[in-house]
Formats: sequence, structure tokens, C-alpha cells
Amino acid sequence: MSTPHRLGAVLLTGAPSPLGRAVALALAPHSDLLVLHYHRRGGEAADLARECVAAGASRAEVRGADLTDLSQLDALAADVLGLAPSLSLLVHNAGLYHRAPLGQVEAGELDRLWAVNVRAPLLLTQALLPALRGARGQALFLADVGGLVPWRHHAAYGATKAAVAWLVRSLALELAPDVRVNGVAPGLITPPEGLDPEARASLVRRIPMGRAGEPAEIADAARWFALGAGYVTGQVLAVDGGRSAGRAD
Ligand SMILES: NC(=O)c1ccc[n+]([C@@H]2O[C@H](COP(=O)([O-])OP(=O)(O)OC[C@H]3O[C@@H](n4cnc5c(N)ncnc54)[C@H](OP(=O)(O)O)[C@@H]3O)[C@@H](O)[C@H]2O)c1
Repeated sequence: MSTPHRLGAVLLTGAPSPLGRAVALALAPHSDLLVLHYHRRGGEAADLARECVAAGASRAEVRGADLTDLSQLDALAADVLGLAPSLSLLVHNAGLYHRAPLGQVEAGELDRLWAVNVRAPLLLTQALLPALRGARGQALFLADVGGLVPWRHHAAYGATKAAVAWLVRSLALELAPDVRVNGVAPGLITPPEGLDPEARASLVRRIPMGRAGEPAEIADAARWFALGAGYVTGQVLAVDGGRSAGRAD
């Protein structure tokens, strides 16, 4: 079966983020309706919606929700079902990053990580399933190579992203053949806030390709899943300059 060269409706969570923005602009020329979800940055989401229309989206809407709040998550899903009874693509981009050595992991932060990184995408996929099935659509998760190989001081965060990779495989089995489910696992793209230059250089030294990635390189992978990849489901593609293949040194 051939894959579409034009997408119908697309929902992208956490759109006003570096990777969300790149994915939105990459999908815009191919999309009939882009629904850009935001958490706190409604102004940036509205600006991005205008840019998406300028880039070729037939229409772009913005919708806010705190995805840790189940009533807001349900309201977002209901709103999207009203806007798009048929949904070609659901991109789970919203995510929380967390670094803490053991001894400094707090229960409240752990709950928030699981709520945003795992509970929200699972429940949102479930709520939007009729629309995804109607379009024979696809869910695409932003995972992390830190959920494929463990990093020091990232046990809590890495466990949530490992769960994201597990969701990709589990949901792919459960939803085939109607809905494809895949993931993109970025490596180092935007360095975590507060990372000093020496720590950043040390991270880059471990990347076989010798550099951090660009948001556009994640967007390229997302576009390939969205518009090609018709026989691919249950896969998490590492876009990480070779980092998950092993250390460069
Ligand atoms: N950037 C990288 O190098 C990298 C590497 C590996 C994986 N990833 C993954 O790729 C995705 C995008 O990364 P990014 O760096 O572009 O994102 P980011 O700057 O970390 O922003 C994440 C997005 O999630 C939203 N979000 C956070 N808490 C939320 C909540 N409670 N409810 C709803 N939305 C919430 C944020 O909204 P607010 O800002 O308004 O809170 C923001 O739009 C994430 O899933 C991330 O884990 C990124």
C-alpha cells in the first residue's frame, strides 16, 4: 500500500520547543490541519502557527493544556476530536528532562516525569484512537537514546524514556494494521540548560560523528515516518550521530 504525500490533520504536543518547532515546520507543507499543543508558551505557539501556514499548512490551530492534569488532557482530546474526527498523525513531542544522582531523586519530580513522558502520551493515544483509526494514521513518539542505553545520573528520566520505547512496540502490536506507531530517539541535540562548556565538550567527544545534532535532523526523521515508511511500525530510530552504537573514545 502506498503512503500519503499529503497528511490530513496532525496533532503535535509541546510544539513550542526546539524540536517541536522544527517538526512543525517540516510537516507544515504537507498538512491540511496542524493542531499545535502548548503548555505555558501560548504566544510562541500562535507565532509558530502563523509560520506553519506561511510554510504551506492549509490551517493551523493552537490548544493549551497541562498534560499532568487529567481533566485538561481529556479536554484537549475532546477538542481535537471535534476539530479533526480523522487524525493522520499524532506526534508526542512534549517531555520533561531530569538529571539527578541517586540520593537526590524526589518523589514529586518522579511523578511529574512519569505523568508527562509516559502517562500523557499513552492516554492521549487512547483517547484519540477513533480518529487515528479513521485516518489509518500514525502515532510518533519522541523517545531518547538515554532510554535505549543508560546514562549516569539519569535513572529516573531514562526509565521514562525506556518506557516510551516500550510503548512504541506494545502499541504497534496492538494497533496494527490500522495505526502505525514509531519513535524517534534523539541523541544530543540541544544541550541541557546549565551544562558548562567543558561538560558539553566531553559529551560531544563521545559522539562518533563528533558533533551535536540539529533539530532539523530530528524533523527529517519525523517527516520520513510521517510521509514514507508505510511498512514500518514498532520501531524507534536513533538519530544520535552513532552515540547509541558505542562510545567514540
Ligand atoms: N533536545 C534534545 O536534545 C532532546 C534529546 C533527546 C530527546 N529529546 C526529546 O524530544 C522532545 C522535544 O525536546 P525539546 O528539547 O524540543 O523539548 P523541551 O525544550 O524540553 O520542551 C518540551 C516541551 O514539553 C512541554 N511540556 C513540559 N511539561 C509539560 C506539561 N506538564 N504539559 C504539557 N506540556 C509540557 C514543554 O512546554 P513548556 O515549555 O511550556 O513547559 C515543551 O513544549 C522531548 O520529548 C525530549 O525528551 C530531546
